[in-house]
Amino acid sequence: MKDVILQTPNFKSIIHCGAGTFSEYAPKLKDRQLFVVTDSNVFSFYRRLIWQTFGDGVPVVILPAGENSKTQRYLFEILTKMAEAGMTRKCTLVAFGGGVVGDITGLAASLYMRGVSAVQIPTTLLSQVDSSVGGKTAIDFKKIKNLIGTFYQPEEVICDPMFLETLPAREIRCGLGEIIKYGALDGAIYQKLLSNRENLSDNGFLGEIIYDCVQHKSDIVSADERDLNGKRKTLNLGHTTGHAFELYYGRKSHGEFVLIGMYYEAYIAKHKGVCGGEYLENILSLIKSVIKKIPAYDDIEQAAQMAKHDKKNEEAEKISIIVPRFEGRSAEIIMGAEEYVKLICECRDKLKEEHANS
Ligand SMILES: NC(=O)c1ccc[n+]([C@@H]2O[C@H](COP(=O)([O-])OP(=O)(O)OC[C@H]3O[C@@H](n4cnc5c(N)ncnc54)[C@H](O)[C@@H]3O)[C@@H](O)[C@H]2O)c1
Ligand SMILES: [Zn+2]
Repeated sequence: MKDVILQTPNFKSIIHCGAGTFSEYAPKLKDRQLFVVTDSNVFSFYRRLIWQTFGDGVPVVILPAGENSKTQRYLFEILTKMAEAGMTRKCTLVAFGGGVVGDITGLAASLYMRGVSAVQIPTTLLSQVDSSVGGKTAIDFKKIKNLIGTFYQPEEVICDPMFLETLPAREIRCGLGEIIKYGALDGAIYQKLLSNRENLSDNGFLGEIIYDCVQHKSDIVSADERDLNGKRKTLNLGHTTGHAFELYYGRKSHGEFVLIGMYYEAYIAKHKGVCGGEYLENILSLIKSVIKKIPAYDDIEQAAQMAKHDKKNEEAEKISIIVPRFEGRSAEIIMGAEEYVKLICECRDKLKEEHANS
C-alpha cells in the first residue's frame, strides 16, 4: 500500500493505492454522514461489501450501468435523493464504481450545497489509473461528451486492485490503453511495461503499475490542474486520433481506441522524424500486445476528418497530436488537416499490406 499526494494551489487530495487499501481506509469513513453512488453491475457484485463497510442503512443510488447514465437526469436524481435523505454540508459523497459513476458523482459533490466532500472508490482499471484522479467531473449533454462539468478534487481516492478480479477482459484492455499511454510519457513506466510485456494483465503487475500511473498523473495535475500550461495536455497522447475513431466507429472501448490512435500517430511521428528506432518499435509492440491486429479501416478518411473537431486544436484546420519522442518524453505535432488525413491513410495502407502478408 502506498499513498500519492495530489496538491493543487488550494486543495490536497490523498490517493491510497494497492491491495488492502479498501479494507484499511473505507471503514474509516463510516463515522461520517455518507451517501453512496454506484451502478447496477457494481452493486450486483459488491452489494454486501457496501452494506458491511458503510452500514446497512447507508443511502445508495444505483445508476443503470453504462455511459448513458452520465446525464442531467441522473445528476438530478442523485441531488434529489441527497436532499430527501437530509444530507448536510458535512456529508461525504462516495463514488463506488467506474469512470461513469466517478464523473457524475464528482459533479454532484461539487454542486450540492455549493460543494461537499467527495471520495472516489474506482472499480475499473481505467478509473483507477485515470478518471478518479485529477478532479475533472462531468455529464454528457445534448449528445456532447463531458459538456457540463467542474474541476473538483476528491478528498480521498481508494484504488484497490481487488476490484479488478470481477472486471471483464474488455475493461482490462480498456485500462491497459491508458497504462501504455503513460508508458509513452514516463521512462520508468515504459521500462516496467517492457519487462512485463508477457503479463500485462496479471493482477499483481497491475497493482504495482496503477501506483506509478497515479503518481504520474498526480504530478501533472499538481503542476497544471486546469489544463492551462500544456503539461496536462500531454495526457492526451493517442487521444486525437483515438477520439476521432471512437466517434466514427464506436464499438470498441475507449482505451482500445487510444491504442489504435497511438499506433497511427506513431506513424506520423516517424514520418516527421520526431520518433524512431528501437524505442518506437518497442512502443508499437506494447500496443500490439493488447491489440493484436490494428484495424485498417476502408473508410478511414472520413473517420480521420473527425479529428478536426478535437478540443486540443487551437487553430482552425490544424490538428494537434501528442506523440512519443524518446524514453520519458513526448512532443506535440501541429499540422494541417489535409496532411494529417493523408498520413493516416498512408499508415492504413501500410497496415493493409502487413495484414495481407501475415
Ligand atoms: N474525469 C476524468 O478525468 C476522466 C478520464 C477518463 C475517462 N473519464 C470518463 O470515464 C468514463 C469511462 O469509465 P470506465 O471505463 O470506468 O467505464 P464505466 O464506469 O462505464 O465502467 C465500465 C463497465 O464496467 C462495469 N464495472 C465497473 N466496475 C466493475 C467491477 N469491479 N467488476 C465488474 N464490472 C465492473 C460497469 O458497470 C460498466 O459496465 C467515461 O464516461 C469517460 O468520459 C473521465
Ligand atoms: Zn483516455
